[in-house]
Amino acid sequence: MASSPAFLSAQDVGSFAYLTVKDRLPQILTKVIDTLHRHKSEFFEKHGQEGVEAEKKAISLLSKLRNELQTDKPIIHLADKCVDTDIWNQYLEHERSLLNETDGEPRWFFSPWLFVECYMYRRIHEAVIQSPPIHDFDVFKESKDENFFESQESIDALCMYLQQLKPARNLGEDQLKDELFKLLQISLWGNKCDLSLSGGESSSQKSDVINSLEGLKPFILINDTESLWTLLSKYKKAAKPPVVRVDIVLDNSGFELITDLVLADFLLSSELATEIHFHGKTIPWFVSDVTVRDFNWIVEHVRSSNQKSMATCGADWESHVKMGRWIYHDHIFWTLPHPYCTMPQVAPDLYAELQKACLILFKGDLNYRKLMSDRKWEFTIPFHQALCGFHPAPLCSIRTLKCELQVGLQPGQAEQLMASDPHWLTTGKYGILQFDGPL
Ligand code: F6P
Ligand code: MG
Repeated sequence: MASSPAFLSAQDVGSFAYLTVKDRLPQILTKVIDTLHRHKSEFFEKHGQEGVEAEKKAISLLSKLRNELQTDKPIIHLADKCVDTDIWNQYLEHERSLLNETDGEPRWFFSPWLFVECYMYRRIHEAVIQSPPIHDFDVFKESKDENFFESQESIDALCMYLQQLKPARNLGEDQLKDELFKLLQISLWGNKCDLSLSGGESSSQKSDVINSLEGLKPFILINDTESLWTLLSKYKKAAKPPVVRVDIVLDNSGFELITDLVLADFLLSSELATEIHFHGKTIPWFVSDVTVRDFNWIVEHVRSSNQKSMATCGADWESHVKMGRWIYHDHIFWTLPHPYCTMPQVAPDLYAELQKACLILFKGDLNYRKLMSDRKWEFTIPFHQALCGFHPAPLCSIRTLKCELQVGLQPGQAEQLMASDPHWLTTGKYGILQFDGPL
């Protein structure tokens, strides 16, 4: 069997990985430092002088981190004592064991990009938790909440749209399918609102996404939504299995999370699914990724909105959670640097949980990178093959393209895209809904 291609890495000067490590990551670190600075008086009010000292300590750890990154220092062990610390340090040792003597130590511009980028976010977490009493402070919370507030109009429009579809189980088959496709596309374009691509700057949804869908269709490079329909409608028709479980591996909070919740609500009300399981992060991650706090915060804010449709949606969502139709999970595996094909060994409990799903939706670019092991695959290699044995259940990646990685394209498709738009892989302008699994 041919060996797998190399990992994306900042070693490739001029690549998107290189530009990320050189420019985007230090920018994000600077923004984190600035955020801590701006909260100084809040820390003082809450914790007195101790809070101010903690802020200073976190800032000094983060400045050190930024310096290590910018001067391409060796990557060092984590010094905290969290549940995942040993796994991280073993991973670093493994990276070290792969190097030749002449390579020296694993470094920021030399190691796999996926490892380095995840490591940076884990070190941010380390800096904060080592600075009590502000150890619980989410340095990205403000940006995530801002994204929600700035997207209010679009959120309201989406909630209104969802409400007028209800009860969705009464929709005719064609309309049901049509609405499912629309909501999947809305969830796809919601992924444009990630805050890490913009270096933590605002990236909210201001335009009317529902009426833009038709115009955006040419930007969907792979659209396997028919397969999702075939799968879910088959279960619905047969009324079997009695529990149709759809898992959504969440990505970003703010507008994107709303699009996922709207889709999840529709799946229940249309009876295409009976249970939705959400998977979020245990620590602040890649700026905008959802933690349990974000999840609860958004549901609560939608419920207490002055806008009637939003408030109705929020109340429904709260009741889904209470009644156990929506189940939120988190697991440390999602914030480790490991590709998903290693999940059965590294997190067998999580793999077993995912195997219970009838369908798993993986949201966003980072999930795609981890599904694909962040390797330099050829554009035409089949998705199934690049998953390298990761097949817990039928799955679909819903992602806008933000890195130089895409598989499953038609021969010549990548070349054509490159000719018309040299940045097609990295701007989030294009999207995919890419399915793998038996039907
Ligand atoms: O690949 C570019 C990037 O900004 C990465 O830093 C990260 O992998 C990803 O995009 C974040 O996007 P998403 O929120 O869609 O996972
Ligand atoms: Mg994200």
